[in-house]
Amino acid sequence: MAALADYSAYRATIAVPEDEETARQREELKEAAKLVAELADKLGRAPTACVVTFGCQMNARDSEKLCGILLEAGYELTEDEEADLVIYNTCTVRDNANQRVFGRLGHLHAMKKKNPGKRIALCGCMIQEPTVIEKIRQSYSFVDLLFGTHNLYKFPELLHRMLLGGGMLIDVWDKTDAIVEDLPVLRKYPFKSGVNIMFGCDNFCSYCIVPYVRGRERSRSSKEILREVEKLAADGVVEVMLLGQNVNSYGKGSEGELSFPELLREVEQVEGIHRIRFMTSHPKDLSDELISVMRDSKKICRHLHLPVQSGSTEVLKKMNRRYSREQYLDLVGRLRSAIPDLALTTDIIVGFPGETKADLEETLSLVEEVKYDNAFTFIYSPRTGTPAAQWPSCMTEEEISEGFDRLLKLVQQTARESVSRLEGRVEEVLVEEMNERDPSLVTGRLSGNVLVHFPGDASMIGHFYDVKLKENRGFYYIGERI
Ligand code: 5AD
Ligand code: SF4
Repeated sequence: MAALADYSAYRATIAVPEDEETARQREELKEAAKLVAELADKLGRAPTACVVTFGCQMNARDSEKLCGILLEAGYELTEDEEADLVIYNTCTVRDNANQRVFGRLGHLHAMKKKNPGKRIALCGCMIQEPTVIEKIRQSYSFVDLLFGTHNLYKFPELLHRMLLGGGMLIDVWDKTDAIVEDLPVLRKYPFKSGVNIMFGCDNFCSYCIVPYVRGRERSRSSKEILREVEKLAADGVVEVMLLGQNVNSYGKGSEGELSFPELLREVEQVEGIHRIRFMTSHPKDLSDELISVMRDSKKICRHLHLPVQSGSTEVLKKMNRRYSREQYLDLVGRLRSAIPDLALTTDIIVGFPGETKADLEETLSLVEEVKYDNAFTFIYSPRTGTPAAQWPSCMTEEEISEGFDRLLKLVQQTARESVSRLEGRVEEVLVEEMNERDPSLVTGRLSGNVLVHFPGDASMIGHFYDVKLKENRGFYYIGERI
């Protein structure tokens, strides 16, 4: 069995219950804890739990919530899937994410045959799809618990019921307006944290399943967000990442609520927070006010993830992105003239239905023009229930894969060029962890999100250092502390 992960340094943020649902879940957590204690007596050790996260930052944050609850219930957390309880927090944005989960479930089944007391739970976006639930019911009956994205806050209750036994428990809602605050959270990093500012998405890009599995857009109250950021700062957090599928439309639809730029201004006032990041920005909602707030801020990082998806106006129209190539490029121009050292990253889809070879050339030329610091490139994956899934493709599989390879090469080349502007500079780095391969190095991040490896030790984790950026290795730097 692999070594248990050392979570002892990570503190749980446990707050006073605020409303009835929170109080109810806290009662459920106590009941679950009694059953976990009984299990510990039987096993002669604390039962172990392993949470595996697929997908995006929102899922990573949700997993921290699951871990907080598991820890309080009495589980010992591990990264080993031999654990007594394994939870897969799934993603369904592309089909390969689903396939990976189904593939790995086979291994979990083999483990459960050897250890019948093992419990397996699945949650997250995939579980919001009725076809997935049906498939699991039919062919993966060894799974103990299924729950979706809308009722994650009910996890204490679901854990309790699962531990009572009685066959596969399925609790999936198709929507919710509730935002339940103040359940335990176990942060992965003591010094940085994601903060949900909104849930769901109303954009309905024609390829995307997120609005269907994460539901309608709803913003958390700015008071709650600021309270959380203040609590995190008091707890030693120096960097927050404000999370939402479409942060630029924060507050819309909640009367009297702050706008996103106003929220950023407030977060900036929180003492102890040195870096503010946010994710994800939709180009159509990025306001001039946001650009000036970023420009004037001392804390907002010089990085913007601005998914373009395609460089062809025709394709963007079919994708329902609601901006043209020209509008996107104009926005990039305005951002760069206001904030010259801004690092830009993006997402791009290749092989969208109706995309022609000429459209793909437009995407390549846009990448050449913008020179992103990094770009995440995806081959289009049809998602059942989305409009684009019905539309035929214009390119053959070979053309798509050849186009994808060309795009990848171009991204690598332009990213290297773009990142090389930093070579020789001295920049502030927040050290995040020990280097995975070389124990004499630490790994940290620049304000612009580029990783830097430089000589150091574990005592430096969570602290800022001035580092000379000596060697550009493409997407990262080798540096030296000065
Ligand atoms: N196929 C391929 N990529 C997709 N994305 C979202 N939906 C799909 C899909 N059906 C990509 C987009 C988005 C990122 C998170 O995932 O580029 O920005
Ligand atoms: Fe999906 Fe578009 Fe919403 Fe992003 S903005 S989550 S791509 S629908």
